[in-house]
Formats: sequence, C-alpha cells, structure tokens
Amino acid sequence: MIRGMLHFDANLLDPEVEAQVDELLAKLSLREKIGQMVQIHVHDGNVEASLELIAGGHVGSVLNYYEASKLNRLQRAAVEESAAGIPLLFANDVIHGYRTIFPIPLAISCTWDPELAQEAARIAAEEATADGTHWTFAPMVDIARDPRWGRIAEGAGEDPFLGAAMARAQVQGFQHDNLESGRRLVACAKHFAAYGAVEGGKDYNTVDLSERTLRDVFLPPFKAAFDAGAGAVMSAFNEIAGVPCTANAFLLQTILRDEWGFQGLVVSDWDAVGELIAHGCAADLREAAALSAGAGIDMDMASNAYRQHLEQLVAEGAMPAAVIDLAARRILRQKCILGLFEQPYVDKSRAAHSFLRPEFRAKALEVAHKSIVLLKNEGDLLPLDRAVRRLALIGPLADDHHEILGTWHRIGRDEDAESVLDGLRAVLPETEIICVRGSNVLESEPAGVGAAVQAVSASDVVVMVLGEAETMSGEAHSRAYLGPPAPQMQLLQAVYEATTQGPQAKRQPLVVVLMSGRPLVIPWLATHIPALVQAWHGGIRAGRAIADVLVGNVNPSGKLTATWPRAEGQIPIYYAHKSTGRPVTGPGVRQFDEAFRSHYIDEENSPQFPFGYGLSYTSFRYEGLQVETPVVDLDGEVVVSAMVRNVGRRAGDEIVQLYVHDLVAEVTRPVKELKGFQRVSLTAGEERRVRFAIPVQELGFYGLDMAYHVEPGQFQVWIGPASSSGLEGSFTVRDT
Ligand code: GLC
Repeated sequence: MIRGMLHFDANLLDPEVEAQVDELLAKLSLREKIGQMVQIHVHDGNVEASLELIAGGHVGSVLNYYEASKLNRLQRAAVEESAAGIPLLFANDVIHGYRTIFPIPLAISCTWDPELAQEAARIAAEEATADGTHWTFAPMVDIARDPRWGRIAEGAGEDPFLGAAMARAQVQGFQHDNLESGRRLVACAKHFAAYGAVEGGKDYNTVDLSERTLRDVFLPPFKAAFDAGAGAVMSAFNEIAGVPCTANAFLLQTILRDEWGFQGLVVSDWDAVGELIAHGCAADLREAAALSAGAGIDMDMASNAYRQHLEQLVAEGAMPAAVIDLAARRILRQKCILGLFEQPYVDKSRAAHSFLRPEFRAKALEVAHKSIVLLKNEGDLLPLDRAVRRLALIGPLADDHHEILGTWHRIGRDEDAESVLDGLRAVLPETEIICVRGSNVLESEPAGVGAAVQAVSASDVVVMVLGEAETMSGEAHSRAYLGPPAPQMQLLQAVYEATTQGPQAKRQPLVVVLMSGRPLVIPWLATHIPALVQAWHGGIRAGRAIADVLVGNVNPSGKLTATWPRAEGQIPIYYAHKSTGRPVTGPGVRQFDEAFRSHYIDEENSPQFPFGYGLSYTSFRYEGLQVETPVVDLDGEVVVSAMVRNVGRRAGDEIVQLYVHDLVAEVTRPVKELKGFQRVSLTAGEERRVRFAIPVQELGFYGLDMAYHVEPGQFQVWIGPASSSGLEGSFTVRDT
C-alpha cells in the first residue's frame, strides 16, 4: 500500500448507502428496475436512439462512450427526463491508462512492483474520472499460460501469486478514494473465470479444467481483487466444463456470493448473454435472459436480452421478482458509492488539464523503464558507448508511434508517443542516427532490405526494433506461430549477414529490441543475436525508456512473468508444472538421454526463457541461504533469507524470488510455486540479507475434499533470481 494512499471498498455494506438504496428501490417499478440491468453501447451513430431509451428509463449503464460533454448529455436524459431520474453508470476499458498510456499490463507485471502498478492505475483513474468515466473494465486478472492467446497481453502472466498481488494493487489504484478529480472509479475484475485456459490459445474457445485447477490457479487473483474491494466483476465468454460462465451458478452464486460474500455487481461480457444461444445452452434470447439472470448476471452488456424479456419472464412467473430486486440493488449500491446522485454531471473544464500531466508522463516513463526485460547481453555489448558516432536504427518499429501504445489503448494518441528514434535522438544528441524502416510489420516481402544493408555499412553499431503490431495481440488476436513476422525475419537475417561481413574489427555490433504483446518464439534470435531486449508495447514513453536502457541511463531490471517457449509445440509451458510419474532429471535432457521419460524427441523441455528471468547490466550473487524456521506449525510463519550481493560495477535492482515445493501431499503439487518476491536496490559491491516471512497458511491447496488446507510435511524452498535457479533449502510443517 502506498503511504497515504486510501482506496474505498465498493463491496462495503454501509448502512447509509443501504438505506439510500432501499428508498430508491421502493420507488421503482419492475420495468425501471430492469432498466438498471441494461448496459448499452453508445456511439456517435446511435445517440438519438440511445437518448430515447435512456429517457424512457430502459438503461442503467453506457459503455465505451467518451468525453465529458457527450456523457453529460446522456446523463441529463437519465436524470432530468426519465421518470425515476436514476443517473447512468459510464463504463470504459481503461486497461493501461486513459490518455497517459502506460505499458500493456503484461509489461507492467514484469516490473514485479505492485506499488508502481497501483500508481499507474491511480493516474488512469484521475484522467478517466475527469472525463466522466465511473467504472473501468479492469483489472484483467486472467492467468495465462498459453502465449498463443492474444489476451495474455492484458493480464499479469502465468502465476497466481504475482497475479493476485497485481490485481490487489490495481484495484487499490483505480478505487483511490481521494482523486483530484473529486470523483471515484469502480474497478471490475475480469473475465470470471479461467478465460486464459482456452484450448489451443484460441480466443473464445472451450475451457475444460478441474475444479481444483480453477481454485488453485485461476481464482486467487479474483479473490484478491474482491478482498481489495473491487465493486464489479465481468463474466467470461467461455464455458468451463460445459457450463458457460455467463450462465454458471456455481461460479456466480456458490463461489462469488456464498463463499466469498461479494456484494458488488456482475456484468456480462459483450453480448455474452446472447451468446448462450451459440453455445447451445439457450434456444433463444428469452431463455438466455432467464439462464443468465437466474445464474447471477446483474447487468446485461449489449445483448438486449434483459430489456426484451425479463419483464415478461417475471409476469409469467418464470423469473422471481426478487432476482430483479437484488440485481437492481447491487447496481444502485455502486451508483450511491460513486456519489452519482449528488454529482451526476462531470465538470468538463477539468478534463482538458487533467491529461498527460508532467508527473503522469514521468510515471509512465518509470513504468516503461522497469518493465523492460534484458534477455541476452553477450560480451556486455550493452549498454552502448555513448560516444558512438554513427548508429543504424532499422526496423518497422524503429520510428513507430502507434504500435507502441499496445492493445486496448482506446483514446491514447499516436502524437503523445515517443518512438525509439525520438528517444535515441534525445540521449545521443551527437550521434548520427540513420533510420531505415526496412520492412512493414506485416507484408509479403521486406521492401527496404537494400537501404537497411546500406545503413549497416555506414554505421558503427546497429539497433533493430522488430515485433508485433498492436493488433497482433489483445482480444480476438490469437496466433499459431509466435515468431516475429516473416518479412521482419528476412530483414533481420539480411542485416545480420551484413554485420558479419568484413574484418572482425569492422563488424558492427547488432542489438535487437523486440516489441510485442506476448512471449515470442525466437530460437534463431536467441542463438545468433548477441543482445536482446524485450520492450513489450511500452506506452507513450517507451521510446525514451528503450533509449535510456540502450545507453545505460537506466539499468534494466524487468523479469518475465510468462514463460517464453522454444517452440509452439511446447505450449502450454509454465514453471509451476507437475512432476508427473516420469519426470526428466534436468533441463536440456532429450529422449535418448533418458528413455521413457516425459519429454519430446525433437525439443528440450526447458523454455527459451523461464518465468522470473531477466538480466541486468550488473551481476548479483546469492549465498548463505538460511532457513530460520526448519520446523514450523500450521499457524506459524516460515522465515527464510539469503544474502544477495551486487558483484558488478554498477548499481542495479534485483527482483529476489522465493519458491516452495510441497514434496508429498494428498494431491499432486507443482514442482515450484512462487510465494514471495522483493525488489532490492544494491550499489556496486553492496550486499543485503533478503528475508521472507511466509504465513504457512499460504502454502495450501484444495484437497481431495475440495477444501483449502495446508498439509503438514516436508517442503523444499528456494531463494533465487528466477524460477529456474536459486539456493535450495527445506523446512517441515508439523501438525499441531
Ligand atoms: C470485450 C472484452 C472485454 C471488454 C468488453 C467491453 O469484448 O471481452 O474485456 O471489457 O468487451 O469493451
């Protein structure tokens, strides 16, 4: 929690708010209550029709409509023209910034800095509320272990522990209780649930997993969001084991309400109610409305099923009126908590000077710095010598101001962004920079290979910026092949050849910066390119952040939060895998080294780059692991520490990680699970003992009886720089 940073709990049952809701409900007709349950998409082409619906009391919320003056116009229709005068809830996808666009959430998670994520969310809330938004469809907290899935870009990667920390932080930031805008923003954890487990990484596809995996892996970030007070949740498009989430009473009632006591509102995803027909669970929209409302969907996004059918369903006795009352209550509760009855309109003069403030842009730069992951740096090629006279900057993303914004950048603008060229010009004012696009992100043949090769021959060092367009990740953008697009690989290999010609002394060092919304499959780059920097889609300050890292103004500290495969065929691949009955003995083992073990005949088991991995311009040595509590009770804390020393020549941040393994349990347990991380800043030569105190109750799982518990017995523990290495110890949890 950032000091002095207060956030409100939108789940809180405040007696005054409940009394206000009671009073409102008592005045509403059934039709008006149903109106609260309807969310419509307004755009410039349907404003008049929407105003009519709103004035008729048929709408409770509007999504994806922007700008204070436009929103005030809709609000006046609700407050001053409709009979009940209930204000609208204005919702938008404020995923990684509103106008100050931050790096994509997957990049932010690579900072391993929840406080920073919280700050970024608060800034997004400042800008969005100043412009009239009340509710953001964020944080996206889906665990993703399949980089083919385009929406891996929107979350915090593959691990439930880190995902929960990021979920909590974002909710606290979005729901900051003292925004300068004088408004509030409700957070919405999505997509409930297990959307990241779609088969084949193909968006909207089937999800079929055990209740244990659902509870152990996919639900913890949602629970963390709700414990932080998130006021809403969005149901996912997918089914789980045959039951679509949008008609899933086990999810929406048993878990969310009965077990967790969630008091907020549940909104469906876009037309997910109507999609029950395509799922084959509803014969028509009437049945879809009945199934969704009956399962616990309080608000219907954009399908119109509720507006068309709920009143008739109640009249026919097919839908208890109590269901409508409860849904309307939850929606009105959020409107009261947001203060919409007291302040329905937004002061449109605020918006203009609320965007892109210097401190917001500075924070976006800090997040971009810390999200960059140094994947390879052979021979300490980086940082570049600032005295370099001529630098060739090549690639379709070298002077890009759009793709850099990433997926879900919404009202973010290209003109707000700095490209890598802008950044390098700022940090290397004396250097001649020859910038050549060389290829488009996607095209049949790279058109500028000749110009690129010429630029190489006229330079002392070569930096290439390659990767994905922002539309190659995000919703409905799954990929089956995960390398940089083919024309860019052709360009790269031509440039690589050009840098390996001529006398050794004349050969230009080659650095590749990758921009993407997901882990990429880059076996050729990983073996041939000496310096590799993963910069994600880093937002409006990414160009300067990348330049700062390339010249050493900033020492990179980011660490991967999703595994990078060697090949698509390894997917799903993640560090917290199970042992199986035939585990291989170590990374790099192939079939013929160990017959009849769990691996491939044509690829290693180990990933290209593992979860938790990231290099620095300095080096850190881990020594002296101490398990201070070799035996610990079920209600105790495991205390483990290690000395971390900066043995390099410059200061740096190191993200120290703690993993455990429950050796024997009534159900199989992952070979490693992250249970702690700390970011430490160490000057050259400085050392610090990094200490973790982990509540034993956090080492549990859902057992044979599907109840959460910790099983006494022996645990292995590691403290290290990544999931693939570290100092090992052990401790015993004893039965008390
Ligand atoms: C989309 C997405 C969801 C988003 C919603 C509103 O289809 O699945 O994440 O919040 O619609 O834009």
